[in-house]
Amino acid sequence: MKSAEIRRRFLDYFVTKGHTEVESASLIPHNDPTLMFTAAGMVPFKDCFLGAEKRAYTRATTAQRCVRAGGKHNDLENVGYTARHHTFFEMLGNFSFGDYFKREAIQFAWEFLTKELGLPEEKLWVTVHISDDEAERIWKEEIGVSPERFSKLDEDNFWSAGDVGPCGPSTEIFYDHGADVAGGPPGSPDEDGDRYIEIWNLVFMQYDRDEAGNKNPLPNPSIDTGMGLERLAAVLQNVHSNYEIDLFVNLIKAASEVTGCTDLENRSLRVIADHIRSCAFLIADGVLPSNEGRGYVLRRIIRRALRHGNKLGAPAIFFSKLVDALIAEMGEAYPVLKEQRDNVVRALHAEEEQFGRTLANGMKLLEAEMQAAEGKQIDGETVFKLYDTYGFPADLTADVARENGFSIDEAGFEAAMDEQRQRAREASNFKAGAKVDLSAADATKFDGYDTLSQQAKVVALFKEGAAVESLAAGEAGRLVLDQTPFYAESGGQCGDTGFIFDEANNVRVTDCQKQGDIHLHSIEVLKGDIKVGQAVSTSVDADEREAIARHHSATHLAHAALRQILGAHVEQKGSMVTADRLRFDFAHNEAMTVEQIEAVEALVNQQIVANGEVSTKLMSMDEAKESGAMMLFGEKYGDEVRVLAMGEDRFSVELCGGTHVKRTGDIGYFRIISEGGIAAGIRRIEAVTGPAAATYINDNRRALNTIGATLKAAPEMAAEKVVALTKKTRELEKQLEQLQQKLAASAGADLASSAQEINGIKLVAAKVEAQGGALRDMVDQLKDKLGSGVVLLAADNDGKVSLAAGVTKDLIGKIKAGDLVKQAAEKVDGRGGGKPDFAQAGGKNPTGIDDALQVAVSLLS
Ligand code: ALA
Repeated sequence: MKSAEIRRRFLDYFVTKGHTEVESASLIPHNDPTLMFTAAGMVPFKDCFLGAEKRAYTRATTAQRCVRAGGKHNDLENVGYTARHHTFFEMLGNFSFGDYFKREAIQFAWEFLTKELGLPEEKLWVTVHISDDEAERIWKEEIGVSPERFSKLDEDNFWSAGDVGPCGPSTEIFYDHGADVAGGPPGSPDEDGDRYIEIWNLVFMQYDRDEAGNKNPLPNPSIDTGMGLERLAAVLQNVHSNYEIDLFVNLIKAASEVTGCTDLENRSLRVIADHIRSCAFLIADGVLPSNEGRGYVLRRIIRRALRHGNKLGAPAIFFSKLVDALIAEMGEAYPVLKEQRDNVVRALHAEEEQFGRTLANGMKLLEAEMQAAEGKQIDGETVFKLYDTYGFPADLTADVARENGFSIDEAGFEAAMDEQRQRAREASNFKAGAKVDLSAADATKFDGYDTLSQQAKVVALFKEGAAVESLAAGEAGRLVLDQTPFYAESGGQCGDTGFIFDEANNVRVTDCQKQGDIHLHSIEVLKGDIKVGQAVSTSVDADEREAIARHHSATHLAHAALRQILGAHVEQKGSMVTADRLRFDFAHNEAMTVEQIEAVEALVNQQIVANGEVSTKLMSMDEAKESGAMMLFGEKYGDEVRVLAMGEDRFSVELCGGTHVKRTGDIGYFRIISEGGIAAGIRRIEAVTGPAAATYINDNRRALNTIGATLKAAPEMAAEKVVALTKKTRELEKQLEQLQQKLAASAGADLASSAQEINGIKLVAAKVEAQGGALRDMVDQLKDKLGSGVVLLAADNDGKVSLAAGVTKDLIGKIKAGDLVKQAAEKVDGRGGGKPDFAQAGGKNPTGIDDALQVAVSLLS
């Protein structure tokens, strides 16, 4: 039975049992930063189990695409080493949300396997949790499973999606591939062999595990089951390895073609066939290779595949060529793959090009290390160097090491990574100034959301990093207050500037940075003597703060608009907000078109004109998730988060600690001023708002007016005119060139008539007006005209002398152009040479030209 048919039969079976067939969700769990990827069929239903979400149905069935790499569920290291592990697989599942429980779940599973698919009962083995007498009774008494093929296990029969969230005891069904395959039954010492393969896991969802590890009962006991489609297909297609099922046979064949490896049993081909599935689907679902979070997991898988290709001697670009073979296998069931084909190919291709530049050299280093190593471990420094210089993820190095009987020093690698992080931190502290000792200071109370000026007390002062008691006029340093309205740079928003003063003092604040939760104000004392303990007034530059707020709020609107126009794969990769402009980096694979740029601007400006209130709410993380707030993966948020919502129908909802406008209308106007790529798969836009946008537009208008005035055209006609003008210029240049050639030809004719004869040899030695190529043409023409003779021409172009000499073939026995030009060049402080019939030289002394020409006369005389 083909994989596609098995998938269909499963879903149809559960539909006849009252289940709603639900489409596979994305591999990126929606708004759930606790999970790396969708690693099981239950992930999209997590909230249904918790009772937090109600759907129109209480029974569902899916074929869910899953990735198990880089998260709690991680099979990456096993791929290629066992017959049944994958980074990507399809999980067939049936779910009950407080509807049926153990009995029906077990009955359905048994009926589907033994009746619907006709698997022999004696090939199946069942396990339950050691505590689960109820499930044991159902299996043994109601189903009639043989006690010979039944075990009770502990951890293996308890399942959870993550450290927190729904979980419960489970019962698993194994298939016995027969005595000719090595391995023992579940619970036995050699259970890890490939003989007894778990095919179906039925989880009795009963608890919600919290952060402290407590198992709190769920509102309604539920069912979550998962059966690996590939494993089931292996059973039904009578093969012992997932890699031998229909779908993989075709993928491996395609991998063999693009790598040139003809041994279809080769382990590397399996790795490649596995990895193209996870990589293509992850990119289709919006992940792009990067150095952090999900993007880094994707990069690790891609690079692992590329390394295996390299091992097979594949050409540099092979992996991206497998996308179409994958679409042929899976595009029908997963249309997203077809829709995203071009993006997938592009992203993989870019990664192949990038890694291709360092892969071979990294391998050389690694092989040399293994040869030189005394023991069987690759040291942490080398693993780090491979990572840092050659882009080798540590698990890729471990994979190569393992093939050669080596391991890697993971602790040493981590230590080297820590050192690098430390260096990076120190480098970034450089801007803020060296770290200062703040152990005595309390967290600064930040009041700048509500006020721009307030009374405060000076808590600490620093000069060149060292604590001081006071700073005098003319001195610069840093200052800590007990409370402050000055925003310290964070979340991409720059620090505030302004003044701190009292009757006797005046201090300029030029920046504000954060160290831990303390605001460090960079200051210059303008007047007086500021001291620790002093009471002062603070005042943030209000105009600048408003300009920053406009750009920050516009950044949120732009982010939401980019996602609407370009797609949900647009993910923030960086941002910078100042009073002058905003910069926003995001994941996207290609340059935006002018139409897309205009559409994003239009959408943002529409929200500005609607002038809705910008709402700020403090809430728990859970509430924030429920509110649909966008959060950045891998970012750490506190228990209480600040949720910013703005625009019609909550156009943008994001977690943010920045300062914002009160109503979107305050932004005034939004205009994108540049768009470009900054790294593979990452684009950057810069934009301006409000008065900064007006300034930008005015500058543009002035430039356009100048162009119009110069062209004597109305500004709106200027573009057309410039195009016409450029075309005309090109035509004129061509005509000019032709004319110069003609001129050179006739000049040549005139010169020929002025030839003198010395010792029976005709000589033309003259100064002419011509440059490089034209000079050569002239020499050739003169040689033609003379029939037999010697030519020496000199030209002076703004102090640069060019000499060219020619000798007709019949005379090169007597005099050589190269010798002639060499001697002539000496007179103009130059050098040159060439062939006997033609030679050139350059010089820098035009006053010597006459002497140079005279060289020809004396040589012939
Ligand atoms: N969620 C269960 C699993 O992934 C069914 O095994």
